[in-house]
Amino acid sequence: MERDIPHQIVEDLERSSSLTSPRLDPARADFAQAVLAGFARKPRSLPCRFFYDARGSALFEEITQLEEYYPTRVETALLEAYGAEIAERMGDASVLVEFGSGSSRKTSLLLSALGRVTLYVPIDVAGESLAEAAEWLSERHTGLAIRPLIADFTKTRTLPVAARRPRKLGFFSGSTIGNLTQADARAFLANAARLLGRHAAFLVGVDLKKDPAILIPAYNDRRGVTAAFNLNLLERINRELDGDIDVAGFAHDAIYDEAQGRIEMHLVSLARQTVRVMGREFRFAKGERIHTENSHKYAIEEFQTLARSAGWTPVHAWTDPHRLFSLHLLGLA
Ligand code: TRP
Repeated sequence: MERDIPHQIVEDLERSSSLTSPRLDPARADFAQAVLAGFARKPRSLPCRFFYDARGSALFEEITQLEEYYPTRVETALLEAYGAEIAERMGDASVLVEFGSGSSRKTSLLLSALGRVTLYVPIDVAGESLAEAAEWLSERHTGLAIRPLIADFTKTRTLPVAARRPRKLGFFSGSTIGNLTQADARAFLANAARLLGRHAAFLVGVDLKKDPAILIPAYNDRRGVTAAFNLNLLERINRELDGDIDVAGFAHDAIYDEAQGRIEMHLVSLARQTVRVMGREFRFAKGERIHTENSHKYAIEEFQTLARSAGWTPVHAWTDPHRLFSLHLLGLA
């Protein structure tokens, strides 16, 4: 992973390291830099990639099984219903690269449909769930070689040597593309085109625009699993960055911004309070928000326009009868 860690932060980390705090390592320094910068700016925000520590990954797995959270269920159903057709349109290739790999269930469905993939390269920041997924998949797909890359997939510039084969397939599921701003999504798609190379086919799962009455509960469920997932960011700061944040002093909120076509997740300070992270103090007003996540929704044509602007040719899009979710197949000449 490429990281640029200011000297000052490294010094702060060294000073704050104690017997009780984890060792200084690049991942922790990256997290520290993001939190200190994100808490210092107004409005405050944190990048969403830090959701996925072991606890966060487990909570996210739980989210994908919630009644209110339709994307995983519908995307899985699309892969089940159209697997053969998707495989036919994707064509033969022996390498599958997955970006931000999440549920291995979906990957397994795609691998079975494709039939000829012998090398699978999952790219994800969540190292532990990556290892688990690799094990689960290798049990089910005999003869499949797996070369995981623990990395931020938006910054990956090279694939393992073994993946340098003529034609590659890409998979980007779960509408993770929606967690990027449009500009970042375009940059990601352009980079993916470079990584996958000539004649590539790219299958991308994209959540569709729809009634906010369906969207909002998907990000604010009755059982409070999504709230726990969002609040785990603060717990992670306490655990890893010597934080003293009163987690009960913050609440989860999810809103739909119609103009931007996106769900926004926030943590809202329930009172005026001061929190400490790595020896620094940050004052929060009552009602002040930390913006933790965006989830952009795209109509079919909107996403196709975005893909074209990044050099891809839209080939086909599959959707469910209720038009909740879409699977886009993109190609490169
Ligand atoms: N890609 C998923 C989405 O935008 C990620 C996600 C689902 C998520 N639920 C979440 C992220 C809740 C943060 C909080 O739908």
